Amino acid sequence: MTKWAVFLIFISTPIFAVLQDCSPEESAILQGKCSLHVNELMIFTDDKEVSLEVAKNISKVCQSITKCYEDIQCADAQRNKEMYEQKCQRLDYKNYLLKDCMTKVYDIINDKLVNCTEQFDYSSNNLTTKREAFTSGKSCFMSLVDTNCSSKSIAHFHSNYDSFLNILTVPPANNEKCNLVHDELTAAPCIPLQTTFMAEEMSLVTIMLKRDFSVVKRLRRVCEQLQECTVASCFFSAMNFTIRNEDTCTNIDTIQRKTDFAECHLTTILKANLTNYDCIPSNATMPSFVKRTTKPNFYDDKECAKKVMVGECGQNVTIGFDENWSRQVEL
Ligand SMILES: *[C@@H]1O[C@H](CO)[C@@H](O)[C@H](O)[C@H]1NC(C)=O
Ligand SMILES: *[C@@H]1O[C@H](CO)[C@@H](O)[C@H](O)[C@H]1NC(C)=O
Ligand SMILES: *[C@@H]1O[C@H](CO)[C@@H](O)[C@H](O)[C@H]1NC(C)=O
Ligand SMILES: *[C@@H]1O[C@H](CO)[C@@H](O)[C@H](O)[C@H]1NC(C)=O
Ligand SMILES: *[C@@H]1O[C@H](CO)[C@@H](O)[C@H](O)[C@H]1NC(C)=O
Ligand SMILES: *[C@@H]1O[C@H](CO)[C@@H](O)[C@H](O)[C@H]1NC(C)=O
Ligand SMILES: *[C@@H]1O[C@H](CO)[C@@H](O)[C@H](O)[C@H]1NC(C)=O
Ligand SMILES: *[C@@H]1O[C@H](CO)[C@@H](O)[C@H](O)[C@H]1NC(C)=O
Ligand SMILES: *[C@@H]1O[C@H](CO)[C@@H](O)[C@H](O)[C@H]1NC(C)=O
Repeated sequence: MTKWAVFLIFISTPIFAVLQDCSPEESAILQGKCSLHVNELMIFTDDKEVSLEVAKNISKVCQSITKCYEDIQCADAQRNKEMYEQKCQRLDYKNYLLKDCMTKVYDIINDKLVNCTEQFDYSSNNLTTKREAFTSGKSCFMSLVDTNCSSKSIAHFHSNYDSFLNILTVPPANNEKCNLVHDELTAAPCIPLQTTFMAEEMSLVTIMLKRDFSVVKRLRRVCEQLQECTVASCFFSAMNFTIRNEDTCTNIDTIQRKTDFAECHLTTILKANLTNYDCIPSNATMPSFVKRTTKPNFYDDKECAKKVMVGECGQNVTIGFDENWSRQVEL
């Protein structure tokens, strides 16, 4: 009796290390029946965009493969099962255009374009919370899919919601490489934020030139959201995403300050007549507008530059002058 109980627990634990090597009979099934299904998949494997009908056939073959391996309780079979499961998730992700769909849906969620999304934490980094959101918020999520995704994605979500939910919220066992569909789905909420952030970051130079700082506050908020979002994603940590540095978002606030300072610095450099400052030698050559980039050498002298800047831009320049002066280099 005791022996049986131990044995049953033993074989029902799906860990490779505990599983036995495959017997000759089991190996025969692996190489026979299961390999036949794998061959069926081979004829489909190709980079082209496939029709919905073909996508469905591929999913069906995939199910036969994983089912075939799943039924054999030995190490090689379970290893194959996991491998094809991941391969097939990848195929579905591509064939049903799920990346595009998820990006659009998270776009709508992030921008709060639809009311129903606000009660569900679809972007949570906590997988329990996320599962709960996608469970009780299924109909809200599906309404976004139905109105904003391709017909292939719509078909997939309608017939495979439960398996989608598992891929999304069950952490994979062996995941050092960060190349699974689960990982992409984890990163998905951050993609629209990243796009927004990068677009606005690009316009910063224009903002500084026009002295229009209205975007700065929004950029700071997007930065913080993006920072928080990317914490859970191995995709973003793998590429050393700079947003993850703590200071990045705080630094955005200094843009206006830096611009004020830089502007004063620049205009005084470009001033045609600075003969009123005794720290500037009377034979100093002033940069002409033609040679804007030429910095007069007296400007390497911080104290002299300070005197000139106070004279030209007012006493307020002295507030945090040293700090701003050393930051000047970074701008
Ligand atoms: C898809 O599978 C069905 C039934 O198994 C078959 O009749 C059809 O020809 C397949 N379509 C393609 C494009 O492979
Ligand atoms: C959301 O709800 C508010 C009132 O509750 C309504 O005024 C608004 O139009 C709704 N927005 C959308 C996108 O449905
Ligand atoms: C995730 O959320 C659940 C339920 O809200 C909570 O019990 C659990 O502690 C959270 N997990 C983490 C890692 O924060
Ligand atoms: C989503 O679909 C609705 C309804 O078709 C449309 O009004 C809206 O512009 C779409 N949103 C996006 C981000 O494509
Ligand atoms: C990421 O950052 C770490 C530490 O700063 C560095 O050692 C590593 O080379 C970086 N990796 C990439 C891909 O830039
Ligand atoms: C510069 O300013 C000094 C004193 O204010 C003045 O004498 C001189 O003519 C000015 N030079 C030019 C080129 O404007
Ligand atoms: C300016 O005069 C000083 C000495 O008074 C001299 O050392 C320096 O080289 C001169 N600079 C230029 C640009 O002529
Ligand atoms: C200087 O700064 C103070 C406080 O920071 C401000 O109230 C004042 O208006 C500033 N003066 C000028 C000329 O910008
Ligand atoms: C210099 O930096 C300080 C804080 O570091 C800031 O309060 C001040 O406004 C800055 N001054 C200018 C002219 O940008």
